[in-house]
Formats: sequence, structure tokens, C-alpha cells
Amino acid sequence: MKIAIIGTGNVASNLGAALSNSNEIVYGSRNPAEAKAKLPNANIKRIEEAAKESEIIILAVPYEHAKDAIKEMKKGEEGKILIDVSNPLDKNRRWAKGFSESAAEEIAKHAKGAKVVKAFNTIFAQNMKTGALGSEKLATFIAGDDEQAKSTVIDLAKSIGMDPVDVGTLEKARFIEPAGLLLIELGYGKKMGTGIGFKLVKSQ
Ligand SMILES: NC(=O)c1ccc[n+]([C@@H]2O[C@H](COP(=O)([O-])OP(=O)(O)OC[C@H]3O[C@@H](n4cnc5c(N)ncnc54)[C@H](OP(=O)(O)O)[C@@H]3O)[C@@H](O)[C@H]2O)c1
Repeated sequence: MKIAIIGTGNVASNLGAALSNSNEIVYGSRNPAEAKAKLPNANIKRIEEAAKESEIIILAVPYEHAKDAIKEMKKGEEGKILIDVSNPLDKNRRWAKGFSESAAEEIAKHAKGAKVVKAFNTIFAQNMKTGALGSEKLATFIAGDDEQAKSTVIDLAKSIGMDPVDVGTLEKARFIEPAGLLLIELGYGKKMGTGIGFKLVKSQ
């Protein structure tokens, strides 16, 4: 599949590396020439171009810039799967949402016509390349209203070694996003580092 990753930072580069094994990746950047210095071997285009020529779009920009990045897509996201990986923090790295709306639902309101799926936000970027820590697959919690879109994202997560867990409709992103903050608190607040992640343990 042709996948556009909007952003050229930590998540974009690690997720892009993982997905490039079996997909064609194009990065969408505000400044492709500058971004090329960071990712010299990558196919980098303007955000609009990358979005319009791809089947799936991964929005990998900071939460506070998601709205601008969606605007830059110039409706290139319409009818497509749009994966939101964001952890909604404000400029002071504090929780930017209440519990009556998630960033994913807010993004869906701006990206009208896109099939928004929440995924990957509870895994540190460094661990996205393999989706695992040692032999332990990391859980990625997935939410979305379009079952087919969700199933495609579940397959993508499996293809890079993660353990996808379907949490339900997009509204359930309200539960998934605070788990991202918990991970950040453990990694940075409690200084456990980024070599940690979540696993869902099941009986049987
Ligand atoms: N880092 C993690 O471990 C981690 C884990 C899970 C989820 N997340 C989430 O993933 C998202 C990206 O995080 P990150 O760590 O990859 O951030 P990052 O390294 O700072 O990269 C963010 C990228 O977003 C793009 N960007 C910045 N401002 C933009 C704007 N106004 N419009 C469009 N694009 C803009 C930039 O690309 P260009 O300069 O090329 O445009 C930049 O490379 C965030 O929402 C974060 O909460 C992060």
C-alpha cells in the first residue's frame, strides 16, 4: 500500500522504517528540502502532495499542529484512512484534553470524510521499528468507527510486530490517549526511559 506519513520526526521516521518493508512510504513535510537532511533516503514531498497520492495517511505531528497539518492536506485525506498517533499534550507537556473528548475525535471533526483510526500512541517512537521489546510484542490500542479501516490498521500493526488490541469506536480514544500520558510519565517522569511499553496479558 502507499502510505503518507505527515511529519518527519521521531514517530514518522521509526514508523516509516517499520512500514517500508512491505509498503511504499512518502513523507509529507512543511519543508521537504530541509527534511531531506534528516531523512536522506526518504521520498519526501509537500504535505498536500503526499496525502493526495496515498491510500493511507498517518498524522505524525504534535497534537497542537494537527489542525494545521490537516488544512495543508487540502482535502487529500477525504475517503481515506487517517491514523492519529497523537498524545494530546500542551506546550508545557501537560494533558491538553478533558475526558469528554479525545484528540482523535477532534481530528475527525477537522478531517471530514476521512476514516480516522487511533493507534500507536502508547508505544515510544524508538520501539516502533520492531513493535516489540525483546521477544515481547507491544500492545497498541486501536479505536475507530469504520470497521474496515480499523481492520486495515490492525493488519499494519501486526505486520510490524505489534499486538493490536481493538478497543472499539473512535470515542474509546478517550481511554487510549491517557494511557499514552501514563507511558510518558513512567518513561520521563519516573525516569524508566523509553525501553518500556504496555502488554495486554490474557488467560489461556
Ligand atoms: N515520540 C514518541 O515517542 C511518541 C510516541 C507515540 C506518539 N507520539 C505522538 O506522535 C506525534 C509526533 O511526535 P514526534 O515525537 O514524532 O514529534 P517530532 O519528532 O517533534 O516530529 C514532529 C513532526 O511534525 C512536523 N510538524 C511540526 N509542526 C508542524 C506543523 N505546524 N504542521 C505540519 N507538520 C508539523 C514536523 O515535520 P516537518 O518539519 O518535516 O514538517 C516534525 O518532524 C505527536 O502527536 C506525539 O504525541 C510520539
